[in-house]
Amino acid sequence: MTRSGLKGRSLLTLLDYRAEEIRSLLDLSVQVKKEKQEGKIQQRFTGRTLALLFEKRSTRTRCAFETAFGEEGGHPVFLSTQDIQLGAKESVEDTARVLGRMFDAIQFRGFKQTTVETLARYSGVPVYNGLTDRFHPTQALADIMTLEENFGPGQGKKLCFTGDGRNNVARSLMVICAKLGVNFTVITPPELVPDKELVETCGRLASESGAVIRISPETAEVEGADAVYTDVWTSMGEEDKKEERRRLLSPYQVNAVLMAKTGRKDTIFLHCLPAVKGEEVSADIIDGPASRAWDEAENRKHTIKALMLATLGLD
Ligand code: CP
Ligand code: NVA
Repeated sequence: MTRSGLKGRSLLTLLDYRAEEIRSLLDLSVQVKKEKQEGKIQQRFTGRTLALLFEKRSTRTRCAFETAFGEEGGHPVFLSTQDIQLGAKESVEDTARVLGRMFDAIQFRGFKQTTVETLARYSGVPVYNGLTDRFHPTQALADIMTLEENFGPGQGKKLCFTGDGRNNVARSLMVICAKLGVNFTVITPPELVPDKELVETCGRLASESGAVIRISPETAEVEGADAVYTDVWTSMGEEDKKEERRRLLSPYQVNAVLMAKTGRKDTIFLHCLPAVKGEEVSADIIDGPASRAWDEAENRKHTIKALMLATLGLD
């Protein structure tokens, strides 16, 4: 039995993980970050292989998986849709069966949540969701780690997401906050509220954890927030919505006026990155003293390493 009991598990959405399991991943992330800072050289992935499947572009997620795995002796293999079939000339099921015979784990970034689910069902090895249209679970782990680095345990803290409330990042934050008891407000116009089914599920989870989950069109809701979070207005694959999003989301830009509405001097700013400065966030905020976006980006690597250690039974 590994410490976290996560050996052999995939991470497709945080809905599948119990609060204690998420907590154990966050604790392990703190440990691996400390090991890295102390310069400890470890080789826990020696002899292991990892397939990295990308339908969409990535800087952080790809680099986090590659460096976390490679620096500990593992062999990551990057495969874009330019390189492999994956549904083009070979079904996702068959690709999964083959990759499962050659790799110890698979990461997938792409469009459909059903693709990452199929990979998990047919490969027989742990599969990690590195972003789909619906969820971005490894991002949410790094986000809570960063919140906790600044304010201690997340339980009872207030995180506000302002922007496209129905995107993968907002939806994943809602899940992790509902599970861990972090108070979470999605500040978004009525056209972009998250889907009813997820809101109801998170409402049930929140009643168990003590979290308060709110959805509001009012930026004044950031009052008292420990952290204000935003993401791009137009996610990958939605480029045709650019103008509409600009129109709907301009009042939700994170800038000095919005940050002042927190009424606090120590509120931090979070962003999953990449950022479009001048759209969802002004440059003075993301490049200013409240920003923890760069720590958050670094924490992608530590949380992803922790996830792989736990699910490969090496923690
Ligand atoms: N935050 C994030 O997922 O970044 P990338 O798109 O660069 O991987
Ligand atoms: N919501 C963004 C997140 C990028 C990390 C997108 O899907 O493009």
